[in-house]
Amino acid sequence: MKNISLNLKNVYGFVPKAKIDGFKLQSEAANLALHKKTGKGNDFLGWVDLPGSIGEYELADIEKTVQKLQVKHLEVFVVIGIGGSYLGSKAVIDALSDSFAAIKGSFEAPLIVFAGQNISEDYLFELRDLLDTKDWACTVISKSGTTTEPALAFRLLKQDLEEKYGIDEASKRIIAVTDAERGALKKLAKEEGYKTFIIPDDVGGRYSVLTPVGLIAIGMAGFNIRELVKGAIDMEKACDSSVPYEQNLACQYAAARNALYQSGKKIEILVNYNPKLHFFAEWWKQLYGESEGKDNKGIYPSSVDFSSDLHSMGQYIQEGERTLFETVLSIEEVDNEVLVPEDEADLDGLNFLAGKRVDEVNKMAELGTSIAHVDGGVPNIRISVPKLNEYYLGQLIYFFEIACGISGYILDVNPFDQPGVESYKKNMFALLNKPGFEKESKAIQERLQ
Ligand code: PA5
Repeated sequence: MKNISLNLKNVYGFVPKAKIDGFKLQSEAANLALHKKTGKGNDFLGWVDLPGSIGEYELADIEKTVQKLQVKHLEVFVVIGIGGSYLGSKAVIDALSDSFAAIKGSFEAPLIVFAGQNISEDYLFELRDLLDTKDWACTVISKSGTTTEPALAFRLLKQDLEEKYGIDEASKRIIAVTDAERGALKKLAKEEGYKTFIIPDDVGGRYSVLTPVGLIAIGMAGFNIRELVKGAIDMEKACDSSVPYEQNLACQYAAARNALYQSGKKIEILVNYNPKLHFFAEWWKQLYGESEGKDNKGIYPSSVDFSSDLHSMGQYIQEGERTLFETVLSIEEVDNEVLVPEDEADLDGLNFLAGKRVDEVNKMAELGTSIAHVDGGVPNIRISVPKLNEYYLGQLIYFFEIACGISGYILDVNPFDQPGVESYKKNMFALLNKPGFEKESKAIQERLQ
């Protein structure tokens, strides 16, 4: 079985290979610190050997829970969570789903929708309006069990579910995923008798897609969670600390990123040529942004969907400020075949493409764009993915997670905390007069005079 691969050829013109390889020892030491759990944030390193350590019992329990809900032939399954509690499942589900699944529907799996990732009143109104006419169930995911956005959405949806099905049936349609001991959600789940899965103490939100946090929703969408885990296990072995830099893709990617950063390339753009990867990039942005952006340091992670964004962001990337580099996710083989038809009149002048696969045109757009951007001063890292399936998504997830840990350690930050996220919460609670925030409320009101 092939693995995903990394190509740094189009970086060397900007940062010499020797400079990147100069990070060999640092990247290997960082990888070892992650595996030996001796570095910063070492109480949050459960994900490092998570793929290989997910027990058969836990996988079977997730599958049994999914099957129990699937026999109800649900039309909609709501995933309530924010940040690391939803982006991983959304990324995998979107990458694997028919682009028009929401309209076509499916007999095998419910439509997966998300809530608790925003506080838009319109979004919640429209979601409840949809659910009112559908047969549905939900999972509520919060590691801390106290995050406002999902708690608010769950409060509403729980009442709707209970009104629709009665308290007893509603409790069978709610799966809670939370901390083993702490948090309001744990207490509620216990009292209401919800089927509950535990997020391990030592796995932070953005590293949790391979726990029930991600696997329940992915399973409910009808995808093979064992293949996803298998891909991650194979990448775990390929990026182990015993694998030297020369063969270790995660060490090489982390080295290249840090070398580029030191040379003034402060913004990394994750590029895809398949819109199904839009939310994979959102997951990646959280992973890298929340892990590295601290202590006034860190590469700013951004993303584009090409060709769409070539017609909006292409100009900036080609000729704007030269602080960018690109990391292209290149999918080698697509699932379906569409040929460009011959047209007798050829008014659009496209007969030169007749008989070619659309994917060939897309691949040439990819190659042409990479060459243009490199010529324009944008270094280009390329990650080749043989196919967009569960197995390779599992590989990609683990690759990016471990590379993020290594990269963060090279940058000398703690990649496993997110102290900055608290600031907005404090202000929001002060503005909403949350009990216990009286002093902050007074101070913020004075500032607003
Ligand atoms: O990575 C993280 O830790 C965060 O993004 C969290 O996942 C996010 O803030 C949601 O937190 P919780 O799962 O505690 O509700």
